[in-house]
Amino acid sequence: MSNEPADTAAHSLWGGRFEGVLAPEMGPLNLSLDVDRRLWREDVRASRAWVHALVGAGVLERDEAERLDGGLRRVAERLEGGAPFADAPDEDIHSLIERLLFQEVGELAGKLHTGRSRNDQVATDLRLWGMGAGRDLERDITGLCRSLLALARASVDVLLPGYTHLQQGQPIRGAQWALAHLWAFERDRTRLDRATHAAGVLPLGSGAIAGCPFPVDREALARSLGFRRPSENSVDAVSDRDWALDLAYACALVGVHLSRLGEDLVLFASTEFGFLRLADAYSTGSSLMPQKRNPDVAELARAQAGRLAGNLVALLTLLKALPSGYNRDLQEDKRSLFDSVDALRTAVPAVAGALATSAFRPERCRQAMDTELLATDLAERLVRRGVPFRRSHELVGRLVRRAEDAGVPLAELPVDTFLEVAPELGHDVLEVFDWERSVESRSAPGGTARASVQEQLAEAEGRLG
Ligand code: ARG
Repeated sequence: MSNEPADTAAHSLWGGRFEGVLAPEMGPLNLSLDVDRRLWREDVRASRAWVHALVGAGVLERDEAERLDGGLRRVAERLEGGAPFADAPDEDIHSLIERLLFQEVGELAGKLHTGRSRNDQVATDLRLWGMGAGRDLERDITGLCRSLLALARASVDVLLPGYTHLQQGQPIRGAQWALAHLWAFERDRTRLDRATHAAGVLPLGSGAIAGCPFPVDREALARSLGFRRPSENSVDAVSDRDWALDLAYACALVGVHLSRLGEDLVLFASTEFGFLRLADAYSTGSSLMPQKRNPDVAELARAQAGRLAGNLVALLTLLKALPSGYNRDLQEDKRSLFDSVDALRTAVPAVAGALATSAFRPERCRQAMDTELLATDLAERLVRRGVPFRRSHELVGRLVRRAEDAGVPLAELPVDTFLEVAPELGHDVLEVFDWERSVESRSAPGGTARASVQEQLAEAEGRLG
């Protein structure tokens, strides 16, 4: 491969049967170190556990294992400092670490790869990384949920229009709006937890495809690395990335939820709505228009969904129609998965911070509320007085029409008009036009009444732990 001294040249893991060097234009395609370098901790950790397993299998003597373990620890210290990555000529993180191990312990390093292949090695490293990433994301999203919980607590008394089709529907509490977003992210926590669980199956000990010929205790190996159990089948294990899809999907859905929250925040922070104020620390100005105060955090949160959905589709497509066993295509799995996790680890804490420092503007919410928001309440009044709902709906529809024709808000129609259209409404019909009364009537569990909102707050608090 190369006639440079072995400790400075790229450390080839497969040179024996080849003549000459790799074509220069093949280099950049073949290399993955720029992407998989972030797996170095997992690679060292799995290698140290493998050393231990090889002792148990009778492949390594104890003193050899100790020297290898010491060497791997020194390699880790060097990698921690970052120096070995500068101009590293290696194909991937596995080759880099093996080269460094040769520098530390000499020819003994060549025993580490016994019974192991980069196929089961990279699958193991990535799962180890995925378990950590899943837990990190869960923590970030818990933080976001806490911000939403705090905002909900602070806005139980804030009333705003609840929208369907982005048209005013019925009044709701600010807390009900904040909790709606909280529950979506709470489901994401569960999904991330399941993805982390799915990652917890150990491929190491599968070799390249057919399994390991040495009697390694894979159960013990799995436990020592924090996996739940070893994989069932070596052919499956080296190419199974289902757990990565679970994680990418969980991330994509967080992206969708962020985009919906972001969209609400953009609208609510606008001059026209003005329902909510984002802190200066999360807003930015315009280089041209001096008055601007832009809700960038919400826009950038909204924007992550495309990237995250793209990564999920890239992974699904990567795996489609791969022949069984390991294929080099799989090297491209990391780019997508890392990017999804990076996107969220950047966006979620920022959104959590923005929410924690934002506040509703109750008077602006009030000003925006049209009394037509209480049209359903009028219909319900008729229902309580024995009028079938369909008929009530029709009668109130007529009242809305009358108000529109007269160019007045629904609540300002003369009482006589209400009675003329629907005598069952009674002379005290105007008592319906009371926001608090309306939200308090939605008292079935899950509704926007104070008691229901308090119940949700307690439930959310409990789940966030
Ligand atoms: N860099 C490769 C990957 O990320 C490691 C495994 C390569 N195996 C092989 N036989 N070429 O998937």
